Amino acid sequence: MRIPAFLLLPLVLWIVAACSSGNQGQSEPRTEVDAILQGLSLEQKIGQMAQLNIEVFINRQDGKLTHPIRLDTAKLVEAIQKRGIGSIMNTAGQAMELEDWHYITETIEYVQEQGGKIPIIYAIDAVHGTNYVAGSTLFPHQLGMAATWNDSLVRRMGEVTALESRAAGIPWIFSPILDVARQPLWVQFFETFGEDSYLAQRMGTAITLGYQESEWPVAACAKHFVGYGFPFTGKDRTPVQIGERALRELHVPAFEASIHQGLRSIMIGSNEFDGVPMLASEYWVNEVLRKEIGFDGVLLSDWADVAHLSDWHRVAKDTLEATRMAIEAGLDMAMIPNDYSFCDDLLRLVKDSMISESRIDASVRRILQLKWEMGLFDEINRPKMDAFATKENSDEAYEAAVEGITLLKNESDILPIDPAERIFVTGPTAHSLVHLNGAWSRTWQGADTVIGKEGRPSVLEAMRASNPDLIYLEGSSVEEVGDLDRVRSEAKVASVIVLCLGETPATEKPGDRRDLTISDAQLALANAVLDLGKPVVVVLLQDRPQIVASIADRCAAVVMGYRPGNEGGRALADLLFGKRNFSGRLPFTYPSSVNDLMTYDHKFAETIGPDWGPTGFQPQWEFGYGLSYTRFEYEGLSLNKMAYSIDDTIQVSMHVKNVGGRDGNEVVQVYVRDEIASITPSVKRLRDFKKIGLQAGEEEEMHFSIPVRALAFVGLDNAWTTEPGWFTLKVGDLEERFEVID
Ligand code: BGC
Repeated sequence: MRIPAFLLLPLVLWIVAACSSGNQGQSEPRTEVDAILQGLSLEQKIGQMAQLNIEVFINRQDGKLTHPIRLDTAKLVEAIQKRGIGSIMNTAGQAMELEDWHYITETIEYVQEQGGKIPIIYAIDAVHGTNYVAGSTLFPHQLGMAATWNDSLVRRMGEVTALESRAAGIPWIFSPILDVARQPLWVQFFETFGEDSYLAQRMGTAITLGYQESEWPVAACAKHFVGYGFPFTGKDRTPVQIGERALRELHVPAFEASIHQGLRSIMIGSNEFDGVPMLASEYWVNEVLRKEIGFDGVLLSDWADVAHLSDWHRVAKDTLEATRMAIEAGLDMAMIPNDYSFCDDLLRLVKDSMISESRIDASVRRILQLKWEMGLFDEINRPKMDAFATKENSDEAYEAAVEGITLLKNESDILPIDPAERIFVTGPTAHSLVHLNGAWSRTWQGADTVIGKEGRPSVLEAMRASNPDLIYLEGSSVEEVGDLDRVRSEAKVASVIVLCLGETPATEKPGDRRDLTISDAQLALANAVLDLGKPVVVVLLQDRPQIVASIADRCAAVVMGYRPGNEGGRALADLLFGKRNFSGRLPFTYPSSVNDLMTYDHKFAETIGPDWGPTGFQPQWEFGYGLSYTRFEYEGLSLNKMAYSIDDTIQVSMHVKNVGGRDGNEVVQVYVRDEIASITPSVKRLRDFKKIGLQAGEEEEMHFSIPVRALAFVGLDNAWTTEPGWFTLKVGDLEERFEVID
């Protein structure tokens, strides 16, 4: 272990104190952290609360990165030795080679050892694999991972990402996104685990455990607390307009579930709630997150958000006031990220007695604790290089893509396609690694060509491996129509057409959209091929459910690919040709119309249509929906009792049989409807699920245990409550009623 010299005295004092109190042999990190804290000056403590962007330190020539990348050591010395900053983040515009990352992290470590007091913790966005490390394994984005409904695959994604981040020397990642996406216009929809709170809890805890409990753990930073995923207008970083009860019931639990699994840090959202920016909300940060939920990890701001309290949100007159508000609300570390304004302001606030030094100590203690837990005070090891981007890792990403990609329509069993058929492939996403990977893929927006140079097969290339004679024409870009006459004449000879559509990748503000409809250019291409009267298989590579009703009604098959990552081309080809079976299920409700955005767990009143009948909910495809090349039948649903007390557990059993001709995986989903409640109940809520593999003809008895308390909702007093009354439990088409009694 590396113990800086200045720590020796406090440590010795602590050991003496520990021995005299009969505490021999215990080495609680908390106590050692306290000893480290005592050795820091006020300026150094405030420095620990600052996170700077690596761009501040990178040398450029004529605005371009040098090769190899070089850091400005004078600037590093100022940041690390003079200011004592706590963390450095991000990448230099695009992914860097492992060697560059080693140079960066080792240079930072060296400068720190030469005169800094506390090791720097490096942090990065690693949201579908360690996406800013060149050549790393890229998994499907979270939405495609949620579509697998397979916790263990999600956990493996976390483990691989952790290992590959550690291989670059990075111990802290800004992932997972635990926002629950209930507004498809919101640009980061694809980065979430979908619209359901329970699914987000299950997937969120799986990935958190994968990140933090693996052989090469990284600290997870779940984001963006809280409600960020539900902006009213759909525009990034705009107000969330729901009630506190709904926020607590639907959006908080995914964070809480991961906190209970040891989540180490949380990024506070850039959104406001009911007129109060989250970052300035003592109620949500201090009262709810810290005190009620008991989160004791590090709270980080999002990009420049302390300053945004003043220049965007307009609740602070200047950055000094903004800093005071954020610290009072409970912030530990500011992603400043390009200057020292936060440090200067905070120092002034403490010197002017506006913020107490003990308040600073509380945050710094948590930051030091995080560093301690991530082993930064020990000799730093990295995984062996041959563990990085291995074939095994890309096979995991391939499996995840296969299990997530969702078959939404398959009229007359047009799929699987016989590879020997005459196939015409068209559309802007057919031959594109960019569309497979989406944003956060080697670059922030992911829409450039960097990713295309990685040698992974596009959908077209992967299909061509099975059918070298297939005909391809791009036909149209996302925004511009191509030569449709040529498309028509080339497609004429085909017996099946594969039409690959989607949207241009984007994230955050640059990706704000005003319309959910798929682009005009793609509609024109779709109509051109649909008019030929041949079977058309539509493949969608997109960030959210774009409205495709007019195409979906006319085509033979629809496959939702999400952003399936670098192995998505192979996965799609294998599924289309029937080498693999589909088992993905939608983690959101796919709307049929731009103005008809309802989630599956809508209220009863929303089911009433203009005819006063139950026609109000008309999605294109429902949450949880997905087809397979085989069929499953459910029977014998039974509950162990008719009436339960509040502390009981409902034991559910049933049989699932694969009655089709192929082996396949089924996602058995258990929903419960609260018939009458003091707060308007949803028509149903997902309460449990299991994914099982069954061979053709195989049958399995399945069991679920659902605590009655898991049926609770947030009541008028904003507290969780379980009310007695009648409930209906549903699995597929089967239903059983039961009563909860006092
Ligand atoms: C995003 C975060 C991200 C951070 C660092 C912000 O703009 O909202 O999700 O982790 O940038 O790149």
